Amino acid sequence: MMPDPSQPRIQANMVIRNIGQLVTVAQQPFVGASGPLQVIDNAAVAMHDGIIVWIGHDGDKEPMFQHDAGSLASSSEIVTVDAQGMVVTPGLVDAHTHLVFAGDRAEEFHLRRRGVSYGELLAQGRGILTTMQATRGADIQTLTELATARLNTMRQHGTTTVEVKTGYGLNKATEEICLRVINNLNALETSPAYDYRRVRVVPTFLGAHSVPPEYRSRREAYVDLVVDDMLPAFAGLARFCDVFCEREAFTLEESRRILTRAKELGYLLKIHADQLSASGGAQLAAELGATSADHLDFASEADLDAMREAGVVATLLPGCSYTLRSPYPPARRLLERGLRVALATDFNPGTSYCENMQMMLGLAMSAMGMTLEEALTAATINGARALALHEQTGSIEVGKRGELAFWSINDYHEIGYHFGVNLVQSVLVAS
Ligand code: NIG
Ligand code: FE
Repeated sequence: MMPDPSQPRIQANMVIRNIGQLVTVAQQPFVGASGPLQVIDNAAVAMHDGIIVWIGHDGDKEPMFQHDAGSLASSSEIVTVDAQGMVVTPGLVDAHTHLVFAGDRAEEFHLRRRGVSYGELLAQGRGILTTMQATRGADIQTLTELATARLNTMRQHGTTTVEVKTGYGLNKATEEICLRVINNLNALETSPAYDYRRVRVVPTFLGAHSVPPEYRSRREAYVDLVVDDMLPAFAGLARFCDVFCEREAFTLEESRRILTRAKELGYLLKIHADQLSASGGAQLAAELGATSADHLDFASEADLDAMREAGVVATLLPGCSYTLRSPYPPARRLLERGLRVALATDFNPGTSYCENMQMMLGLAMSAMGMTLEEALTAATINGARALALHEQTGSIEVGKRGELAFWSINDYHEIGYHFGVNLVQSVLVAS
C-alpha cells in the first residue's frame, strides 16, 4: 500500500505484524488488576530504537512508518517481524531468583521426601551452606557458564527481565565474583536492532543469606562485615540489597541494621520475609520503604496492611510451596486487602529449582486461586514494580521498551490451563 501523504508518518525501525492477540497488560487504573486485560486482535506494534511508538490493528489502516537513515547505522530499512498469528504478551518479569551457584542439592530434595524438613537441614549446616561450599569452590568462568545456561532456559520460557541475587558466596571475595557474573550477564548483547537472545538482568546483593560457618560463634562479626565492608564496596555493582530475615538466618534487628545501611548507601531494598515463620520481615519492609517483600507465607493481616500503606509489592513464590510441600502463599487474602502481587520463580537449588515462569502462572491459578488476569499482571507489570522498573517495562505501552513474549497458542486463555509444557515460542528484546 502506498503511503498517504496526508497521514503523519511515525518514526520506527521495527514493526511486529500479524499478532493474533496482543495482551498489553497496560497499567490499570485500579489496584489488584482483577478487571479485564486489554486485548487487541490482529494487532501490530511499532518500535523505534527499542521503544514502543505505536500499537494498533494490523489492517489497511496501519499508519505508514518511516525510518530515517542514521538512527540505525547500517540501514534505513524497517525490520518487519511476522508474528504468524501468535499471542503476544509483555515479556515475563522474574523478580526473585538465586541464579548464580555451583553444585546441586538433589540429595537434600530426596531426604525431604523421607521427612527431613528444610529448616532441619539448614540448622544442620546443610541447605544454603552446601551450595555455599560448591560456589566458593567454582571459578568465575564456571559460574558464568552455569548462570548463562539457566538464563537461556528462562528466556526460552518467556522471561525477558530477571532479578538475580548473590548469597552463596558469604565472604567478600566470592560475593564480589558472583556480582561480577551477574553484571556480565547484562553485557551479553548482540544485534544492534533487536535480539532474541538477551534477557535484562537486575543485580541484588544478598550477603545476608546465611551466617557462614566460620562466623557461627560470632555472628555479629559477620553482620559487621556485611555492613561495614561489603555493602560500601558493592554499592556500584548491585541495585538492590536483600536479607533473609528468618529464625535460621538473620534476626529482625540484624536485618534492620543491614537494610538501613544499604538504604543510606543508595540500594533499593528487598526482604525474604515471613517464609518459614512470622519473622517481622513484612513490617520491616514497610518501615524501611522496601520495594518488595517476598514469600510472606506467615505474614499477619497487620503486616499486610502496613505493606499496602507503604506501597511495598508482595512477591509470591509458589515454586517453594510446590517443592517444600508447604501451604501456598495466601494470594487471595493479599489481593483482597489491596496489595500489589507479583509472581517469581525464586529459582534456587534448594526450594525452587525451576526457571519457568509459566509454571508459576499455572500454580498461581490452580493452587492459589488467582485469576488469569491477576496472574498475568503479577508475572509482568507487577514483577516490574517489584524491581522499580514499571516505568520502563512490564506492559506493552507507547513509551515503554519493546520486550515481548510470543506464545504459540491461539488464545491467551490457554495460559495456565494448558500446563507442564512450554507455550512460548520466543521472546524479543528490542534495543
Ligand atoms: O528464597 N529463603 C532463602 N533463600 C532461598 C532458598 C535458598 C536455598 O535453599 O538455597 C529461598 O527460598
Ligand atoms: Fe529466595
